[in-house]
Amino acid sequence: MRTRRDRKFQLWDMLSQFVFLGGALAANLPLTTDANCNCYRTNATTSNYFAHHLFFDFRNLPQYARVPPLIGDPDGNTQAAVASSYFSLPQWTSYWAAQNWNNSEMMRMNNSDLSGSDATVLMVNSPNNVYVDRDRDPRPASQTHLVMRTARLAAGFQTVAEIESVSTGFRFLSIRMLARTRGPPGAITAMFTYRPPAGPLPVQEADLEIRTRDPENAVQYTNQPSWNADGDIPAATRNTTMPRGSRWTGWAHYRLDWTPYLSTWYVNGQFASSIAFQAPRDPAQVILNSWSDGGSWSGNMTANATAAMQIQWIEMVFNNTDPVYTKFGSCKNVCSIDETHVVGTPVLMPSGGDIPLSSLPRLVAATYDIWDIEAAILVQQYVKDHEATFEIKKVPPDSDHRSPSEVSVCRHYA
Ligand SMILES: *[C@@H]1O[C@H](CO)[C@@H](O)[C@H](O)[C@H]1NC(C)=O
Ligand SMILES: *[C@@H]1O[C@H](CO)[C@@H](O)[C@H](O)[C@H]1NC(C)=O
Ligand SMILES: *[C@@H]1O[C@H](CO)[C@@H](O)[C@H](O)[C@H]1NC(C)=O
Ligand SMILES: *[C@@H]1O[C@H](CO)[C@@H](O)[C@H](O)[C@H]1NC(C)=O
Ligand SMILES: *[C@@H]1O[C@H](CO)[C@@H](O)[C@H](O)[C@H]1NC(C)=O
Ligand SMILES: *[C@@H]1O[C@H](CO)[C@@H](O)[C@H](O)[C@H]1NC(C)=O
Ligand SMILES: *[C@@H]1O[C@H](CO)[C@@H](O)[C@H](O)[C@H]1NC(C)=O
Repeated sequence: MRTRRDRKFQLWDMLSQFVFLGGALAANLPLTTDANCNCYRTNATTSNYFAHHLFFDFRNLPQYARVPPLIGDPDGNTQAAVASSYFSLPQWTSYWAAQNWNNSEMMRMNNSDLSGSDATVLMVNSPNNVYVDRDRDPRPASQTHLVMRTARLAAGFQTVAEIESVSTGFRFLSIRMLARTRGPPGAITAMFTYRPPAGPLPVQEADLEIRTRDPENAVQYTNQPSWNADGDIPAATRNTTMPRGSRWTGWAHYRLDWTPYLSTWYVNGQFASSIAFQAPRDPAQVILNSWSDGGSWSGNMTANATAAMQIQWIEMVFNNTDPVYTKFGSCKNVCSIDETHVVGTPVLMPSGGDIPLSSLPRLVAATYDIWDIEAAILVQQYVKDHEATFEIKKVPPDSDHRSPSEVSVCRHYA
């Protein structure tokens, strides 16, 4: 079973006030272009710098809008063409690939400890489920959006959607999407980083997942693996409530910051959760999907039911180990994608981007859950790498006494 462990919100609430002050001081910065930006600084309790920026905007693509009819047989789904010519344009194919793999191999294993899956249904990825559609709301938020669809078909299998980044070299990023999820219980919609298991090394994966069978304000965050042969790993995962009454059925701004030693998630600009335990370390892909496999995590969709994640835009600032992303020189022009009033267009930060916070004490904090010796070593390394003063506060065990060795680490700059 997974347990709620979110009592550290107080610390974060306190700390986030510093950042909101910083944000308020940084209004009306000049819009610029990526060519002018040497790097990008993110706004968060811990600012991070990234070398690259990408923005995928699906809000104004009526010429590509087309809802492909569902395909009733598994092979037809595997072999389906892309849903429209948008998905053949270099601006798409250079970065993303719609998948057509299926889980038949995992199901044949019939051993969740080996396959990582307790699927009970054949699940077939299809490019046919990744398409541009008009926003059909009475008062549409945008003309069009990307749709990632999943459906349980009468023939007894599940057709699903997944886009994977072409690059497997992302190493640290801040990714955001404006998205909503629609559909009956039994589906999962997700945005995550993914590095597959390699021999004895487990998967490295920072997840945002919405289960359509959960309440409309519940979002699950995880540094995988969240379970193994011994059972669930509670330290790896958090079940959170969306802020201020927002629901995943409505448009929400989701953000994942994967930074050294830590995954942090925000919803609509509000801190949602952070997990240091098992934070991914090595280069990874970025993946978004909508799926169901009749297993214990997704549950089952009923026959003929359809669910979907709809996305207005995806934006990320990132570092990447692929040679094509090598960047030389120092970061003279620091830009921001947070302080802009035009989503997707960066603004130039004044004087190396340091002004807004320099008059305030710079207080950076993270909460670490030290559940094992490996995590403890990582925190020690972090302290050493950053040559900063730390306050280590012992947090009292929570009511279920699950965290006897948990500590909070605060970092103060002069
Ligand atoms: C990204 O790379 C730059 C150097 O190119 C480095 O200064 C920065 O700290 C890196 N960001 C993260 C989050 O590691
Ligand atoms: C599923 O994938 C396997 C390869 O793993 C392939 O041989 C098979 O044709 C696929 N099945 C369907 C129904 O697409
Ligand atoms: C899968 O394994 C279980 C035992 O773990 C067995 O009861 C079941 O029949 C197997 N299913 C198939 C399709 O082989
Ligand atoms: C998350 O918490 C909500 C509310 O307690 C619950 O209904 C839901 O099933 C939980 N989700 C998971 C994945 O445990
Ligand atoms: C960062 O900027 C965004 C967009 O301006 C804002 O919504 C959010 O609250 C800020 N986040 C933090 C952590 O300050
Ligand atoms: C999904 O349905 C299958 C039968 O088609 C059943 O074996 C399985 O237990 C169901 N899964 C869940 C999570 O209820
Ligand atoms: C699903 O759709 C098929 C084809 O339209 C229909 O024959 C079948 O009865 C439907 N199944 C359910 C459970 O509604």
